[in-house]
Amino acid sequence: MVFMVARKDFNRYMMPVYKPAEFIPLKAKGSFVWDKQKKKYIDFASGIAVSSLGHCHPELNKALLEQSKKIWHLSNVLTNEPALKLAKILCNKTFAEKVFFSNSGAEAIEGAIKTARKHAYVNISKKKNGIVAFSDAFHGRTMMAIALNGSDRFVEGFGPMPGGITHHPYNEIKNLEKAINKNTAAVVIELVQGEAGIIKAKRDFIQKIKRLCKVHKALIIVDEVQSGAGRTGTLFAYEQFGIKPDIMCCAKGIGGGIPIGAILTSTKIAECMQLGSHGSTFGGNPLACAVAEKVMTLLSKKTLLNGVKKKEAIFVEELKNINNEFKCFEEIRSSGLWIGCKLNVRENFNLDTMMSACYAKGLMILKANNNTIRIAPSLIIEDKVIREGLKILRSAIQEQLQHQQ
Ligand SMILES: Cc1ncc(COP(=O)(O)O)c(C=O)c1O
Repeated sequence: MVFMVARKDFNRYMMPVYKPAEFIPLKAKGSFVWDKQKKKYIDFASGIAVSSLGHCHPELNKALLEQSKKIWHLSNVLTNEPALKLAKILCNKTFAEKVFFSNSGAEAIEGAIKTARKHAYVNISKKKNGIVAFSDAFHGRTMMAIALNGSDRFVEGFGPMPGGITHHPYNEIKNLEKAINKNTAAVVIELVQGEAGIIKAKRDFIQKIKRLCKVHKALIIVDEVQSGAGRTGTLFAYEQFGIKPDIMCCAKGIGGGIPIGAILTSTKIAECMQLGSHGSTFGGNPLACAVAEKVMTLLSKKTLLNGVKKKEAIFVEELKNINNEFKCFEEIRSSGLWIGCKLNVRENFNLDTMMSACYAKGLMILKANNNTIRIAPSLIIEDKVIREGLKILRSAIQEQLQHQQ
């Protein structure tokens, strides 16, 4: 009944681009969420890989509360100390020397493309503006981001798209030299594709991109919006791929649940973005930066990042056991606490039936692609909660498969 009222209001007042689950979350703590009926859920989703330290972490609550008593908003004509502190920690912990703050991942992608094109325009040639993106990419929902995503489902009806973008099959080395050429200003890549179902870039693919970008003086933009902030077991995924980004985009997990995005780059590249060439009213908001600074400090701890790998091993082992029992997954893919289980889809056993069954039993999971269960819990989820959640997943699978017989 409560949900029916909310559904009515949703249909009445909201643009119909989302279809929320049939319960209303009321409060959350750590890896648990409670709905309006006081039903408890284990959270294997953390938003969509956002609440990297779980819900309402006491230290993040404290950072938010303290900042809220000082100052909420500053325009960009004033010095913003929380933003400076966050920029400093991001530079100290990564390849970067300069930061620009945005509000979201897509906004970071927009700024990164602008920076790369301006860099080529100022330093190399005014005609060098090509951007190479990859099949099954996901970079967000703005016009530039959907143009980079490329797939019809994102762009249909929204044209004309921004020009100068070409797509190449992800992980395919063949013909890469045709895609990345003297006109290329930048290549934009996810080192692990999340929305596509946790697909890792192959080393030789990355090495060839690196070589070609060097030859053609093209920049490498690494999209770490979902893979960053400890998700893959290192602070950023690029650390595992033998590559140093020229520009990196982050968002999601770096704010731990507060909206923030960032573009990270070198001083040399940043220099092409002269005064007034880019900006954002809310980017670098003091409340967001105070929380993100605390998130980044906590995430940088070796023990936390090692914990991600240990917890990944628990997930993978238990998921393999489930698969041995039910043959329900075609493949289990993982990169830290970012796990994709490609379903062995059968009649009445698919992503939608699995999502509903998990919600009914008190487990929140995610979809990726149209055939993969995505798991992206808090990076500090307790081992026993992982096991509890996987018991629920097992029982949902068992129930679904029994329905078939
Ligand atoms: C890899 C990647 N890039 C960009 C985005 C867009 O981020 P936002 O939704 O914050 O605009 C997302 C969001 O899911 C993402 O996963």
